[in-house]
Amino acid sequence: MWMKKLAQHFEKMRSIYPSDRLIVLFDIDGTILDMRHMVLSVLHSYDQTHSSSHFNDLKISDIDVHENHVESLLSRMKIPAGKAKSILEWVTANLWTPENLLEAHLPFSGVMEVMRWLQIQADTYVGLNTGRPEYMRAETLNSLNHLGKEYKVRFTDELLHMSSNEWEASMEQPKVEGVRYYRDLGYRVVAFIDNEPDNLLAVSEAEGTNITTIEGLDPAGKHPVQQAWIEHQVPQCGYCQSGMIMQAAAFLAENPDPTDDEIVDNMTGNICRCATYFRIVDAVRRAAEIKAAGKTGVGEVSHG
Ligand code: FES
Repeated sequence: MWMKKLAQHFEKMRSIYPSDRLIVLFDIDGTILDMRHMVLSVLHSYDQTHSSSHFNDLKISDIDVHENHVESLLSRMKIPAGKAKSILEWVTANLWTPENLLEAHLPFSGVMEVMRWLQIQADTYVGLNTGRPEYMRAETLNSLNHLGKEYKVRFTDELLHMSSNEWEASMEQPKVEGVRYYRDLGYRVVAFIDNEPDNLLAVSEAEGTNITTIEGLDPAGKHPVQQAWIEHQVPQCGYCQSGMIMQAAAFLAENPDPTDDEIVDNMTGNICRCATYFRIVDAVRRAAEIKAAGKTGVGEVSHG
């Protein structure tokens, strides 16, 4: 569902900014890859190939190391040093097989296809915004480009923003810095995909980004959309209406004189179980008229 919404949002941004370099940012761990699956897969393949059983009981939740730090896992499992050395050699030689990479990506199927689709759009880029520390830059690019080969997706050094903190430190601040990094390079950041709500919240609250909620639209109820909604008596049960009103207000801030088709297009995706759709379209059209007549200019929704 989020992929469809992203595609719709991207198309809208492209129509508003036809000549900008648009970029969509993705987190890595938990959004594109779960490297624990890769580590587990290669260790299980070691056992199968060597008819051993070191990792029979190893579960995904036991793996808390990154793909290039398997030695600390082996040491914690008390694997004798000599045996650990030969296992590590096996891991190094076999980690990057297509099978193991796909294991790491399996929980996130569809994401690479979305990236591929974005990368073939004109003047459109995919950037990575990760909490991985800077010292993992080379191996991160290596991992992702191994995986990218399968999907014809390419990741570059410039479009990879990493954290200046250690792994355990807060992730929110590097994510905010990442968005600024891409903006400073001249890209228009149109979306950021991250599995951690805290990161998304931090980015949305950061300087340069404004979020307006239904309560803040215009507490006096004089926003053109609010006026039009009252005129047309749009709500029935009211359940969907906050989302409808905010969607309409954001839409009119970007497109003050929409056609009916554009209104329908924009409001598609918000579901109203009371089927107030006809009144919604009428009200959005009316809100555009009120706005054009300059009856009120308060409470605009803005995007940073
Ligand atoms: S008014 Fe009831 S769900 Fe939309």
